[in-house]
Formats: sequence, structure tokens, C-alpha cells
Amino acid sequence: MEWRVKFVDYPRAFADMETEIMDTVRGVLAAGDLMMRQQLKDFEVHLAAFVGTSHAIGVSNCTDGLRLTLEALSVGPGDEVVTVAHTFLATLAAIHHVGATPVLVDVGDDYNLDPDLLDRAITPRTRAILPVHLNGRVCQMDRVMEVAKAHDLIVLEDSAQALGASFAGRRGGTWGAAGAFSFYPAKLLGGYGDGGAVVTNDRDLAERLLALRDHGRVSKSGVNGWGWNCRLDNLQAALLDLKLQRLPDWIGRRRQLASMYDEALEGLDQVKRPPAPSDSGLYFDVFQNYVIEVDCRDELAAHLADQGIETMTAWPVPVHHQPIGLPDFSLPRTEALALHALSLPLTVELEEDQVITVTNAIRSFFN
Ligand SMILES: Cc1ncc(COP(=O)(O)O)c(C=O)c1O
Repeated sequence: MEWRVKFVDYPRAFADMETEIMDTVRGVLAAGDLMMRQQLKDFEVHLAAFVGTSHAIGVSNCTDGLRLTLEALSVGPGDEVVTVAHTFLATLAAIHHVGATPVLVDVGDDYNLDPDLLDRAITPRTRAILPVHLNGRVCQMDRVMEVAKAHDLIVLEDSAQALGASFAGRRGGTWGAAGAFSFYPAKLLGGYGDGGAVVTNDRDLAERLLALRDHGRVSKSGVNGWGWNCRLDNLQAALLDLKLQRLPDWIGRRRQLASMYDEALEGLDQVKRPPAPSDSGLYFDVFQNYVIEVDCRDELAAHLADQGIETMTAWPVPVHHQPIGLPDFSLPRTEALALHALSLPLTVELEEDQVITVTNAIRSFFN
């Protein structure tokens, strides 16, 4: 199908940076810098500086980043990790694959973990809280950290969708022991395949992660234990480093487009909009996604598709209803979002008249 407005326009994004991308690829390939070379180190230094941590460790993807960090923090069998169900399955997979048990709490109006529900989810077996900063908005991390401190729990942040976002002036990924980012192609900082990174201010944890991602290696010939092959490709790192320079502008553009959506949808009572970007409030949102809530979500998505507008429904079946052996937690807000949430196209490539095409089509549906 030929979309008038694509959800993510990869060819357009490539065309906008083609020369620099191809120069970078040529430079890396011509030098034979394929694994764990200077480009990876440079990217890690620049990413840590951008986020504001002392360490960043490039890994194969965010899921592996979360899993390796849990392993490095000795979270495993017998431990419970409190997180949300309104997230991509990867968050829970990381907990499952270290042998720990996910305990799910509902989200609040911001689509993020509701800190009011944390206390009652905590048991003597709880070891960690794994908040997810969804859609480019950081959780109410002051409250999460308070609860974690009171119960002596580890906090690991799933920051896959929130590179550059902050709460109370502090960036997502820097509140807890560590934060993990995703560079999946559709992400704010997207690679050309899978990629991820973990950021931390804890030097020991950083060293354990550096070893764990590379077969436990701590020197050319020595290991300090079992590890995995979860390295970030050097070529991806070089390309991500190139794109990282543009990230502040891209975040600005996303916020501008979110404001345009907000204005164009104002007054349409059937549509619940996310909070518009604010420069003065507690939140600095980066709009990885622009998610609206509507009653007849599937009908609206079909109407938009008929008009050539591609949207995304994340996630129509909540993780605790998937056949993966989780108990049936009662999560009314998560279950309502599975029925009502719809992501509209929002990428830096989106033109202003395309925002109007989308919002006019939404208005025509309700009229
Ligand atoms: C909230 C969240 N957590 C984790 C992940 C996993 O990231 P990756 O695909 O890099 O493993 C994603 C990716 O979509 C995500 O959106």
C-alpha cells in the first residue's frame, strides 16, 4: 500500500543523511574497524556525556542490556522484580531470562508505572523495581526512588523509549543503578539494525557489564567468569555516534510536531491527548510516540488507513494476557489502554502539512 503518511519513513530518513551515512560506512569498512574499535568507544563516551552518566556500555539491544544488568546485579531465581504490563514484552523477558519473577503493577494517567501502587506490590522477595519510561516521558522517579530506598531495592530503568527525556531536571536512565536504551531503527536514536546501551554511574557495575557483554573477557586472554556475546557492532556504533550529534535538534522537532498535534486536536472531546510539551513543568518529554486515547480505536485506525495514514496500536493484547505463563494480574488501566490507545505518526521527517492531513482525517471520522 502506498501511504500518504507513513508511521516511520525510513527511506526519507536515509535520504536526508545519505552522504554522511555513506561516508561513515565507507570509512569504517575501508579501515576494517568491525568489532570493538575506537568508534564504539567514542560513541560510548559521547552517549554518557549526553545522558549525564560516567559510563555507557554499548550492547546488542536494549533487551540484552536490561538482562545483563539484572545479571550483573545478581538478580535471579527467587527474586521478584516489580514492573508494568503496559510495555513491550522485552521488559518482562529480561526479568524472566535471569530466572526472576515479574510482578506487575498498573500504570497511571501518564501511561507509566503508578508509584501509588508500588508499596502493595512489594513482598519480602522483591529485589528490584524496573520502571519503564514510555513514549518519551520519564516516570515519577522521585516517588519510585523513595519507595526503593525505603525497601532497599535496586532500580533499573527501561529507558528504551526515552533518550533525552527528563523528570525534575534529571534525565531518564540516571536515577537508578542503571538505565538501558534501545537503538532499534524506529527509536529516537535509531540504528540500521539492533543496538542498545546501558548507562550507569557505578564503575563496578560498568566493568561487570563490559565483561558480560563480551564472553566475560577482561583482557585479551583472560575472563572473569561466564559471559555472553552481546556486543554493539562497531559499524552501528559509528552510525549512532553520527546521529547522536543531531539528537538535540531532533528532540526539538519532535516536541514542535507534538505541539502541532496538540493544537490541531484541541476541542475534539472524543480524543484524549498526551500533555503538550512544556518548558517550565516537571517533565521534559521527547515524544518517542504521540499516543491518543479514543473509544472506537480500531474503527479510527481503519478510517485513517483508508485515507493513507499509517498508525500503530501498541499493545492490543497486554503482556499478562499473552500465553507466557504470567498470573492474571488485575490491571484495569493497562487493559483499557490495550483497547483505546493509538499511536499517530511522529518522526522528525514528518511534514507539518502531514500533521494536518492526520488531524483532519481524525476530525472527519468523528464528524
Ligand atoms: C519499552 C521498551 N523496552 C524494551 C525494548 C526492547 O528494545 P530492543 O528492541 O532494543 O531490545 C523496547 C523496544 O521496542 C521498548 O519499547
